Amino acid sequence: METRNNVGSSLFFPSVNEQLPVIVRAEGIYLYEADGRKLIDAAGGVGCVTSIGHGVEEVIRAITRQAEKVAFVPLIQFLSEPVIELCDLIATLAPGSLNKAMLLTGGSEATENAVKLARQYHLERGATSKFKVISRWQGFHGMTLGAVGFGGHTGRRRKYQPMLHDSPHIPPAHRYRCRFCCHESQCNLTCTDLLEQTIKWEGPENVAAFIAEPVVGAALGAAAAPPGYFQRVREICDAYEVVFIADEVMTGFGRTGEMFAVNHWGVVPDILVAAKGIGGGYAPLSVLIAKEEMVARLAQNNSNFTAVHTHTQHPVSAAAGLAVLRYILKHDLVTNARVMGERLLSGLCDLQRRCDIVGDVRGKGLLTGLELVRDKASSESFPLESKAAATLTHEARMRGLAVYPGTGTADGLVGDYVLITPPMTIRRDQVDDLLAILDAALSATQTRLSH
Ligand SMILES: Cc1ncc(COP(=O)(O)O)c(C=O)c1O
Repeated sequence: METRNNVGSSLFFPSVNEQLPVIVRAEGIYLYEADGRKLIDAAGGVGCVTSIGHGVEEVIRAITRQAEKVAFVPLIQFLSEPVIELCDLIATLAPGSLNKAMLLTGGSEATENAVKLARQYHLERGATSKFKVISRWQGFHGMTLGAVGFGGHTGRRRKYQPMLHDSPHIPPAHRYRCRFCCHESQCNLTCTDLLEQTIKWEGPENVAAFIAEPVVGAALGAAAAPPGYFQRVREICDAYEVVFIADEVMTGFGRTGEMFAVNHWGVVPDILVAAKGIGGGYAPLSVLIAKEEMVARLAQNNSNFTAVHTHTQHPVSAAAGLAVLRYILKHDLVTNARVMGERLLSGLCDLQRRCDIVGDVRGKGLLTGLELVRDKASSESFPLESKAAATLTHEARMRGLAVYPGTGTADGLVGDYVLITPPMTIRRDQVDDLLAILDAALSATQTRLSH
């Protein structure tokens, strides 16, 4: 296996002492290393990127054709055909009046622009004191300073704390460890009362937006909000004129078995941001989708949105996104994500019953996760030094499966989870292969952690 790390090479990558294998080829749901070893890509790139699998001809052709025709135009002076077509198609798929789409390059860029748009919308309608963004602890909205500030992952905030904007956070909807309802037979939605309470504490005249992920991916390991949660959020945001931003960077474009995850709750946010699934790993691409009436305010006041980045509305990224989205629709991958997701989750539940270190399994569609614990009865987490999620990830990789690890589900620092997010093209037999490898990897992990 060919591996590289920072030491003795020109590379600077975030895991400074980790030895990473080199992937030389990818096709369908598989990644291949230089020695021919094959891995199921259930890490989805970095959680959910790989939506339609690797090496899809239509997408590769669309990228090549667009690069030949026109690779780049400066966005404040010109438009390009794929940008128009993709925004039109997204507007037909997004719920309610979410009809105005702007193409950006990544999730952090999209969430930052979403909160800026919320602020500007209030300015345009004369509510000039509204600027605060309420978010949730253990939520994740990106790694740029703004996004880390309104994000709620303790471990990712610590080093940069003095540089972060002070914004209010409320507890997440995390049933497995919820302080309000984890011992009740049913969720009582008390966590939503805290949104209303916090708006009142901060003063509704100061609160611009509330941002949340429908299913928390890279901070809670696929924890979906309970039924009724976002309906209540919508009511509260309406009552206090707070812009509701749904961060669907992971969930958007079919991953959870609905085109957008908010559809599970039947609500329409004011702004929806999505990213990973639409680029599919073929191009860096994200999208900010805003309600028509919000953008109309800016237009009425002839007030530009101060939000451009060099690669906003990039023609080649747009061509890739258009081809990816057409592929999702043509092969009805949203339905496949729902059906295969049910099979995967049921297999994970079975593993949970048989395996002492699997405390919880959760998710929606093909955004699934499992939480590792030292003691099932008390839900006690492994200490950070055990590196439980990293150990499972290693054992899975050695057996031909890539999963996506993380920590922080218990208190923001400890609490190990892995995300299992295979491409939406996965078949039944491949789900079963994935589960068999995970089963063996969990047994090996349990043995290693007990020593
Ligand atoms: C919900 C959510 N929002 C935002 C981001 C940030 O996206 P990016 O890494 O493309 O900046 C992520 C990345 O994992 C995410 O999961």
